Amino acid sequence: MRVLVVGNGGREHAICWKISQSPLVEELYCIPGNAGIQEIAECVEFSVDDIQGITDFAKDNSIDLTIIGPEVPLVLGLADSLKEVGLKVFGPDKKAAKFEGSKAYSKDFMVKYNIPTAQYGVFSNADDALRALKQFDIPIVVKADGLAAGKGVLICERKSEAEEAIVEIMQKHQFGEAGNRIVIEEFLTGTEASLLCFVDGTNIIPMESARDYKKAYDGDKGLNTGGMGCFSPNPIYTDRLKNYIDNHIISNIKVGLQKESIDFRGVLFIGLMIEDDEAKVLEFNVRFGDPETQVILPRLESDLIEIMMKVIEGNLHESDLVWSEKQAVAVVIASGGYPNDYKKGKVINGLNTMDDDIMIFHAGTILKDGNVVTNGGRVMAVTCMEENVEKARDKIYNNIGRIIFDKMEYRTDIAKL
Ligand code: AMP
Ligand code: GLY
Repeated sequence: MRVLVVGNGGREHAICWKISQSPLVEELYCIPGNAGIQEIAECVEFSVDDIQGITDFAKDNSIDLTIIGPEVPLVLGLADSLKEVGLKVFGPDKKAAKFEGSKAYSKDFMVKYNIPTAQYGVFSNADDALRALKQFDIPIVVKADGLAAGKGVLICERKSEAEEAIVEIMQKHQFGEAGNRIVIEEFLTGTEASLLCFVDGTNIIPMESARDYKKAYDGDKGLNTGGMGCFSPNPIYTDRLKNYIDNHIISNIKVGLQKESIDFRGVLFIGLMIEDDEAKVLEFNVRFGDPETQVILPRLESDLIEIMMKVIEGNLHESDLVWSEKQAVAVVIASGGYPNDYKKGKVINGLNTMDDDIMIFHAGTILKDGNVVTNGGRVMAVTCMEENVEKARDKIYNNIGRIIFDKMEYRTDIAKL
């Protein structure tokens, strides 16, 4: 098969790495890719929001399967566009992608179908939103409705901060049109877990659980980021919790998808807040997580292409997924300053000094004059799989110091339970 992966993050590197092991894959392309992906796939320069350009490329190159990594092309309808010209695609269509494209839509769906979630209100003008703050206790969570590259959620410790957030988002348009509507939400306490599920139109089949570390600095300090590290499985995911999630969340999502005639085929990422073996849904995403993918796919023993084809055909079963018992950890190295401003173009040294069992999934990297240089906020994920988390973590932290670039940053407490 001729396979195209769309995206340029660590998630897409992990997807390319995994599918390049499949005997079904003859040619692998990536749009636009990065310096790591370039070693295993032919990278082609298109922007991920160039729906027509990517569609034409896939058609002209007789691509048998396109796998869409990031949310932006999904929300813009890349899957619809590819299907219109008769091509196979892994990733939901525009209608289903609204689960990530609009937080208000997702929250309304959750409430309509009895899926546990935080109390909330949706507002499309700032005055109403400011007035409504009275009804919320602090901390208050203020969220831009649309896509904001993982930055659109503000946790406000004081009412004045929430007021500022509303003004920034709705009146100063900090996140552009994504902030035309906002969701104000009750703050939930507990421990977060990411549950990624394959959805084949009817069946929702969870992958192994993972824990993401969203905050920029050690001890969960600093701003929210796309994710600074991850490990899988997540020990909080007990059998009791699994039952709760099956009975209160997954079964209700299934009913909702059917009632709303949403033909979801791809990955549904359920962001959960867990407390006392019960869970509430924080958010839905319509794609693999990043860095969750970098710890989940190394543990998947089955052929990912076979799974994706079954998702597309509506024919996936739990038995199709075989998982390694090993535990995986990934630590993200970021450019100094991320998630705020940071500099690109720093030469990265030491990548060839890693131990054999260390996997590096590149994110913001690019090849320049024969050097791998930084090209984004999250630069790469250093990953290892071992019989237990401690061993995997120790190996990563033994190796990570050999990677050197100016102003690099990483958390030193990933997977310390
Ligand atoms: P979201 O994009 O909605 O998942 O929000 C990003 C992050 O903000 C989550 O992973 C949580 O860490 C935090 N968050 C979002 N909503 C809430 C909430 N209602 N209570 C507490 N934390 C939240
Ligand atoms: N790691 C969280 C996300 O991919 O949205």
